Amino acid sequence: MSRSVSASVHQIPTPALVLDRGALDRNIARMAAFFASGPCRLRPHFKAHKTPEIAKRQLAAGSCSGLTCATVGEAEVAATFCDDILLANEIVAPDKCARVAALAKRVRVTAAIDSLAGLEALSRAARDAGARVGVLIDLNVGQGRCGVEPGEAALTLAQQATQSAGIELRGVMGYEGHLQPVRDRSERESRTRQAMQGLVNTAKQIRDAGLPCEIVSAGGTGTYDISGRIDGITEIQAGSYALMDTDYGAVGVPFEPAFWVLGTVVSRPARNRCVADCGHKSMTKDHSLPGVRGIEGAAVTSLNDEHATIALPPESTIKIGDRVELLPSHVDPTINLHDVLYVVDGQTVVDVWPIAARGYLEHRTRTSMEEPA
Ligand SMILES: Cc1ncc(COP(=O)(O)O)c(C=O)c1O
Repeated sequence: MSRSVSASVHQIPTPALVLDRGALDRNIARMAAFFASGPCRLRPHFKAHKTPEIAKRQLAAGSCSGLTCATVGEAEVAATFCDDILLANEIVAPDKCARVAALAKRVRVTAAIDSLAGLEALSRAARDAGARVGVLIDLNVGQGRCGVEPGEAALTLAQQATQSAGIELRGVMGYEGHLQPVRDRSERESRTRQAMQGLVNTAKQIRDAGLPCEIVSAGGTGTYDISGRIDGITEIQAGSYALMDTDYGAVGVPFEPAFWVLGTVVSRPARNRCVADCGHKSMTKDHSLPGVRGIEGAAVTSLNDEHATIALPPESTIKIGDRVELLPSHVDPTINLHDVLYVVDGQTVVDVWPIAARGYLEHRTRTSMEEPA
C-alpha cells in the first residue's frame, strides 16, 4: 500500500532512494510495448525492485504472464496481488518448500528445479499440503550457476517430475545471466542465440518424449529483445529495466535511469572534493562506483560505510547541506538496503512506496527460535 503525500524533495531525509515516476512509467510502457506483439510474454522479475506498487504497474501495462520471484518471501508478497508466480530459483529446505506448497493452494506457483533432491523436497511438501506445485527444469545455458545440462540430464529430471506426486511439469528455464552485461550488441546477440539453442532443443526433446512443456523461460534486461524473439521461448524474466542502473546504461538498452540515491553534502574539505552522507550502506558498489546525476564533471571516487567521496570540477559551487543524486551501478542489491522509495514528479514527492519484500521476511519479526518462521 502506498502512502500519498505531497512535499518537496528537500524534505526527504537522507540517505534515501528516490524514484522518478515519469521515467518508471516510460520504462514499463516501453517494455510492455515490445512484448505486445507476442507471441513471447513478459514475466517481470520482482526481485529487482521488491515493490508491490511497481509490480502492479508492470502487470497493468499488459503483455505479462505473471511475475518472477527469487525468494519465497518475495513470492508471498507478490501473491497478495498476482495469481501466477514463477520462482526462478531452487527451493529445497523443508520449511521453504512448505511455504511454496501453502502458496500453491492460493495462486498458481511454478518453481525451478535442477536435482532429484529438490524435486523430492517440493513433492513431499506439496503432498503434505494437498497442493499442486508446478516445476520448470532449470538448465545451465552457460552461466555456470544452477541448472542441469541441456539434453538427456534435463529429460531424465523432467520424466521424474511427471512421476512425482503433487508436482506438475510445466517446462524449462535457462537464464543467460553471463550474457546480460556483454557490451557489444552483435556479440551479445550471437552468444545469446547460441545459448538459447540448448534451451529450445531441450524443450523439444521433452515434448517429443510426450511430456508437457508449456513454458520456456529465459532472459533479462540485456537480452529481452534477443531471447524474446527466438522461436520457442515463451516468457522473459527481465527485472532491472524498470529502474535501471549504470551497468545496464553502459550496455545500451533503451531504458532510462528511474531511481537514484539522494544524499546530503556533509563536508567540502577541498575545492575539488565534497563528501556526502550516502555510502555503501545505502547503495551497492558491486558492479562499479555510482554515477553522479546532474553535476557536470563530477565523479564518485570512493564509497565507505556512510560516506561518498565525490571529485568535483574546481569551479563547483556545491556547499555543505546541498543535495547530491547518485546513480547506483546495480539495482537489486541497492533496493534491498532501503525500506521505501520516495516517488517524485520533478521536485515534488508525490508518494512513498514501501519496498515490502526487502530482506528476508522470515527473520523480520522473529525474537526466538521457538516461533514458526
Ligand atoms: C534467474 C534470473 N532471471 C532473470 C533475472 C533478471 O535479470 P535483470 O534484472 O538483469 O533483468 C535475473 C537477475 O539476476 C536472474 O537471476
